Amino acid sequence: MTKRTLLGLAGVLVILVALAPYSASQRTAAQEGWQAYTEDMIAGGTVKEDARAEGPLPTNCALPAAKDKYVIGMSQANKAEPWREAMDSQIANAAKQYPEFEVVFQDAAQDNAKQVSDVENLLTQGIDLLIISPNEAAPLNDIVKQAWDACVPVIVLDRNLVDPNYSMFIGADNVAIGRAAGQYAAKWCKENNRTECRIAEIRGLEGAPPAKDRGDGFRMGLEDEGLSEKNIIFSQNADWLRERAVPAAAAAFQSNPDIDVLYGHNDPMAEGAYIAAQDAGIDVSKVLFIGIDGLPTPDGGIMSVLEGRIGVTFVYPTGGRQAIEWARLILEQHVNPPLWLVLPFDEINPGNAQEICNTFQCPNAQPEEGEATPEATEESK
Ligand code: FRU
Repeated sequence: MTKRTLLGLAGVLVILVALAPYSASQRTAAQEGWQAYTEDMIAGGTVKEDARAEGPLPTNCALPAAKDKYVIGMSQANKAEPWREAMDSQIANAAKQYPEFEVVFQDAAQDNAKQVSDVENLLTQGIDLLIISPNEAAPLNDIVKQAWDACVPVIVLDRNLVDPNYSMFIGADNVAIGRAAGQYAAKWCKENNRTECRIAEIRGLEGAPPAKDRGDGFRMGLEDEGLSEKNIIFSQNADWLRERAVPAAAAAFQSNPDIDVLYGHNDPMAEGAYIAAQDAGIDVSKVLFIGIDGLPTPDGGIMSVLEGRIGVTFVYPTGGRQAIEWARLILEQHVNPPLWLVLPFDEINPGNAQEICNTFQCPNAQPEEGEATPEATEESK
């Protein structure tokens, strides 16, 4: 063997050893300079679709450059909705920890065309990364592709797009949440001898994937418990909005005063339906109101369960904090993120609402049993 061949073989060996820690799918990305994500970065979530082998940007893009300051554009679908306000403030708070980050917020006020021009404006400003929670999937698909094609990393939150032309999607599993809601509704009917189990549904905005997923999942949950879609005697869209849910639910209760379960695709619509039922003279204590979001705010879902209006809701995490953490990993550490990261959700029912309120510091938070309050500590001295 010549000296040259030996050197060549040694070179190949060094490359093989260097690549060993990466799985086959991550090898190309690693070659391009992207690093594989590690388990601790997933932090309680689950990976639904793994990282792209070629990395989180189109292959012709360079790695994000190291900078002292990064501008992050955040395009919000509709800040007037409480859950979206919570998302924006989580993003702002998480970004405060990192002095190198400046976040520019835009609010599309539930208008697809406005959201497209919001993203165009952000791109003109020269942002380093885009976070977007799209109002509807189809109308926002192209502009997100344009951003991504222009080598801007994109993190999509909560509502997915039609095509995955972005760096990563972060959101909870709306089919699973809807399914849990459907199972709860069916069991509640059984336990309360509502043999007919008449259900009214107030749906979210049609072009937003969570509305379809929450509807489909709910129907699966009913079937899991021996009921079917036939139990849904009324279904109407109220675009996620409390004020639109009031007339929609009024129509439901007027034509069917014996509704057993009212399923709202989010808490504001379930609350709107509750008001409509009261106005229609319905005994609301006999109806199960179901919502989704479970915000820890004074008028959020946790307080509503504690106060006995909504019977069950689900904590739907906004993903705001996670988006900032992943922005850092992508921009500063060149980590190749999973393409689809699923966040966990929690059921909030009358049995665990107080505990969840304590965990998330809702206005009614009380110290856990056995935990000393400052007063108790004073007295025991
Ligand atoms: C706010 C909201 C939330 C809901 C989410 C679904 O716009 O309707 O209440 O959980 O969006 O995308």
